[in-house]
Amino acid sequence: MAIEISRPGSWDVLKPCRRAVPLPGRGEVLVEVAAAGVNRPDVVQRQGLYTPPPGASDIPGLEIAGEIVVIGAGVTGLELGDTVCALVTGGGYAEYCIAAAPLCLPLPEGMDSVRAAALPETLFTVWSNVFDRGQLKSRERFLVHGGAGGIGTMAIQLAHNWGADVFATAGSAEKCRACRELGASMAINYREEDFVERVNVETGGQGVDLILDIIGGDYLQRNLNCLAVDGRLLQIAVQHGPKAAINVLPVMLKRLTLTGSVLRPRSIADKAVIADALRDKVWPGLAAGSIRPLIHATFPLAQAAQAHRLMEEGAHIGKIVLTVR
Ligand SMILES: NC(=O)c1ccc[n+]([C@@H]2O[C@H](COP(=O)([O-])OP(=O)(O)OC[C@H]3O[C@@H](n4cnc5c(N)ncnc54)[C@H](OP(=O)(O)O)[C@@H]3O)[C@@H](O)[C@H]2O)c1
Repeated sequence: MAIEISRPGSWDVLKPCRRAVPLPGRGEVLVEVAAAGVNRPDVVQRQGLYTPPPGASDIPGLEIAGEIVVIGAGVTGLELGDTVCALVTGGGYAEYCIAAAPLCLPLPEGMDSVRAAALPETLFTVWSNVFDRGQLKSRERFLVHGGAGGIGTMAIQLAHNWGADVFATAGSAEKCRACRELGASMAINYREEDFVERVNVETGGQGVDLILDIIGGDYLQRNLNCLAVDGRLLQIAVQHGPKAAINVLPVMLKRLTLTGSVLRPRSIADKAVIADALRDKVWPGLAAGSIRPLIHATFPLAQAAQAHRLMEEGAHIGKIVLTVR
């Protein structure tokens, strides 16, 4: 069984279907999926607003955990029967999914498939932005918007473990509490408070060194206004839209850097570099329990539509995962 997007639309267009089991090509493996993470980009794809990159499966799902059951030509370092979690370019909402061998990581010691399936999309995204592009340093101030979401809960933990001072925004008192429990020194309920004012008060007017933003639109100017000298803004989504008219003076006066990225269309080689960094720098923390995926809810694969409905209702804290077997 797999879940297909029967047509672009609301959560109820996700339908169980039968598809042939895919065969791995060179450098790929076939994974018998035990669990698959649900991510906001899956929702955007289902709405017809995010076309999968060329060659990607039309079945949604960007991250999986499971057992390797077929190994393609040219694959080294993986064995039949290995349990792995993997970043995939699509096809995760299914009993069987193809993964590129370099993007398969071992299940962290002591971790079950449900929690492991919640790791790849958030970890690859957060690592490549916050630590690679953004060059977060310990003791720097880091602000993450959407701190209680899948990306946010992982960004808070990684940055806190790195020794940064983490600020987060979130949409309720409960979500703000969760952000603080994960390591944020300050959580701002953006529905009640202006985050620019609060950041400037808390930092004595200095601002934060790095911002991870998923909002865009009207947030662009506000982010620039609360960045410190030599600050960096990382744009990874534009929930308030891709366009904004801005006053560029803060960029000049504070020598700011505006950058961003989208993970999915990047090459396997690019993603493999991120996978190596994660294995080295993050896997020990996952095994030790100092970094942990927060699971809000699980749904059987056949109920993927309900999982999307829950995500769109927006009350979740952390990740939603589909269980496949
Ligand atoms: N560029 C990339 O490579 C990449 C990769 C993965 C994901 N993404 C993007 O990253 C975003 C997060 O993904 P996700 O899977 O973590 O989704 P998610 O779990 O739904 O998290 C989004 C969070 O943002 C919060 N939020 C919404 N409006 C907000 C605002 N104005 N200020 C602060 N928080 C706000 C939401 O809760 P409240 O509304 O209650 O605050 C929710 O907790 C999505 O837009 C996704 O498309 C980008």
